[in-house]
Formats: sequence, structure tokens, C-alpha cells
Amino acid sequence: MGIKQELERFAGQVGFTLAYLDETTSTNDVARDPRYDAGAVVIAERQSRGRGQCGNSWSSSAGANLTFSVVLCPGFLEAAQQFYLSKAVSLAVCDTVESFDVRPQVKWPNDIYIDGRKVAGILIENDLAGNFLSRSVVGIGINVNQTEFDPALPNPTSLAVAAGRKLDRAEVFRLFYEKMSFRYGQLQQQRYAAMDTDYAARLYRLGETHSFVDGRTKVRFEGTICGVLPTGELEVRHRDGQMHRYLFKEIEYTITGIG
Ligand code: BTN
Repeated sequence: MGIKQELERFAGQVGFTLAYLDETTSTNDVARDPRYDAGAVVIAERQSRGRGQCGNSWSSSAGANLTFSVVLCPGFLEAAQQFYLSKAVSLAVCDTVESFDVRPQVKWPNDIYIDGRKVAGILIENDLAGNFLSRSVVGIGINVNQTEFDPALPNPTSLAVAAGRKLDRAEVFRLFYEKMSFRYGQLQQQRYAAMDTDYAARLYRLGETHSFVDGRTKVRFEGTICGVLPTGELEVRHRDGQMHRYLFKEIEYTITGIG
């Protein structure tokens, strides 16, 4: 049975809508269609305009990886707490990676790394109703079986490279869906302390001193990541002892080689 049939069967058993496409522009664009209800998944073998964060593109070898979007309707979640949705998704991807005896880390805010290399990216697009989220399209790209990468990509890897064997993509997706259901349950129950602990335990470079670049001034500085605030801001202590808070794109990691 091919991955399409396997996932259609899984969707039927669990009871969610699945659109399995050979090719599309971006699964996030397709999943915006209101006909996809909470829990629905749009998955594509190939994206012609796969999107990453901040206007970047997402490149993925057709048929080797997983590129999909999950529709969620977190009407219970205040916009001010929306970083907890990002945490839930990052943790679900980490839980999935850990199922293959591989140790993932979250490079703030929500890149998933293995051994200092990026294995998965997450692009969440939220709609708001007043002060609350109403509908979220959670786009996820996981490098599963790709072993050769575009040299223009800074530090890619895949689950297969890390695990040392080719993996069953349908199994990776099923695991993700189960882990995501668990983490979404934590979010619904506002179990933020548990999520914070799990996220901190996987936070890339937590407590380590590294060189960073201020995204606004482009000035390089040394700092130590101390944690992530409920707002999603990264807390970094500078060498003079002062604590600074950064929003995404206000700070750039310097990643030289791996590790
Ligand atoms: C990033 O690392 O910048 C986020 C990458 C997100 C990629 C996924 S692949 C499925 C979904 N569709 C897209 O166009 N992007 C997301």
C-alpha cells in the first residue's frame, strides 16, 4: 500500500479530513479554504511555492519528505498566548523525532534541529476573532528521507540521516498526528507549566554563551540564552549582565558549521 492509501485509511480510522495532493503551490494556501475543518490535513508530495517564515521559501525533495498543513480552531486561546500554539507544535515534532531514538532541539522560535542541523520547519498562520485565535493553519515540513540537499541551504539534515536508515513516511506522519493530539490537549487544558518545562528541556543553546547578531543594528554580541517568555520573546543575558528580550528577527544566531 502506498503512503496516500495508508494515510487515507488512517484519516478514516481517526476521523479527520485528509486532502492528499500530488502537487500544489503551498499546502498552507490550500488549507486556508474554509471547507477544511478542525483537524483536517492537507498534504502534498510537491510544493511549487513552499513557504517558510519571513518570506523565505521551503525546499523539499518531492516524494522524500513530509510537507503538510493541519487546520486547528483554537478559539479558546488568547492572541496574547499564541506562542503556546507554536510551543505545542514544536513539541509535537520533537516528540515525533524522539520516537526514532534521535534527540531533537528547538531552535527558538520553532525550527527543529538535530545535532545543530535543521530537520523541520514550522509556519503557523493565525486568524483572530477579537482577542482570541479563531483558525490556525499549521504548516510543517519535515525532512524524512532526503539525503542530498541544496548547497544553498545553511545546515539541513533529515530524520533518515540522523537515524541512519530510511523511514516509513506514513509512520512518521501517524506518529506526528498522535503527538500533536496530545500536545493540543495540553494546550486546551492550559497545562502551560508542563509545556514550558518540555520546551526548555529541548531549547537549543539554552544556558550556553554564543555569539549573536542584533537583527536591527547588525551589531554582533555575546550572550547567553536564559529562556523564552510567555509572549514568545527570547531572553538573552549580555556579557555586562543585562537581560534583553528579543522578538523573532530581532536576533540572529551565528551558526558556524555544526554542533
Ligand atoms: C520555516 O522553517 O521557515 C518554515 C517552513 C515551513 C514549511 C512547511 S511545508 C508545508 C507548509 N506549506 C508551506 O508552504 N510551508 C509549510
